[in-house]
Amino acid sequence: MSPAEISLARRRDAPRLAAMSRRLVEAGLEPSWTAERIERHVAHDDSVAIVAKLRGETVGFAIMQFGDTTAHLNLLAVEPRVRRAGVGRALVAWLEESARVAGTFTVDLELRAHNAVAERFYRALGYRETGRIRGYYQGAEDAIRMRRELAVALPTLPAG
Ligand SMILES: CC(C)(COP(=O)(O)OP(=O)(O)OC[C@H]1O[C@@H](n2cnc3c(N)ncnc32)[C@H](O)[C@@H]1OP(=O)(O)O)[C@@H](O)C(=O)NCCC(=O)NCCS
Repeated sequence: MSPAEISLARRRDAPRLAAMSRRLVEAGLEPSWTAERIERHVAHDDSVAIVAKLRGETVGFAIMQFGDTTAHLNLLAVEPRVRRAGVGRALVAWLEESARVAGTFTVDLELRAHNAVAERFYRALGYRETGRIRGYYQGAEDAIRMRRELAVALPTLPAG
């Protein structure tokens, strides 16, 4: 289990999360996740933005947006120095649980087609490819679309 502590992001986290997104997710692209855009997600009822902290230091974050039937994982990043320690898995598990609580049992996402690490990560978490979108990232890079159907835990009925 990851030792990271997960909590809701606050508006004042937005500049730091935008900088992490530029460096860790959007490298080589025109940055689209500005502090203002992230702040809107922090404030909006249809989105959940969370941060992972280790010894008080922000080492990862994720943003998910809820639609009527599907939740969309918009952003996820973990600092390189703490990777492979379960922080990414813990962030996604937290968001999936909040989707279940909201009654949303499908999560989808797009990732950069050349991001083999993220593809392996999402596959390990049960996500499956549902398609590819040519030029999705500013016409410069394709996207892989992935999806996970969240298991519904059925109540155990008493025998007889
Ligand atoms: C993708 C990312 C979020 C994973 O975060 P992480 O904290 O390192 O992931 P975890 O430690 O929770 O890994 C969970 C599982 O994913 C798989 N995985 C993660 N990184 C992997 C790697 N480099 N190679 C192979 N499998 C990997 C493994 O199965 C791992 O389980 P294990 O360590 O028990 O074998 C992180 O690499 C990252 O921030 N990348 C840059 C940003 C990005 O690509 N974001 C996603 C697209 S928006």
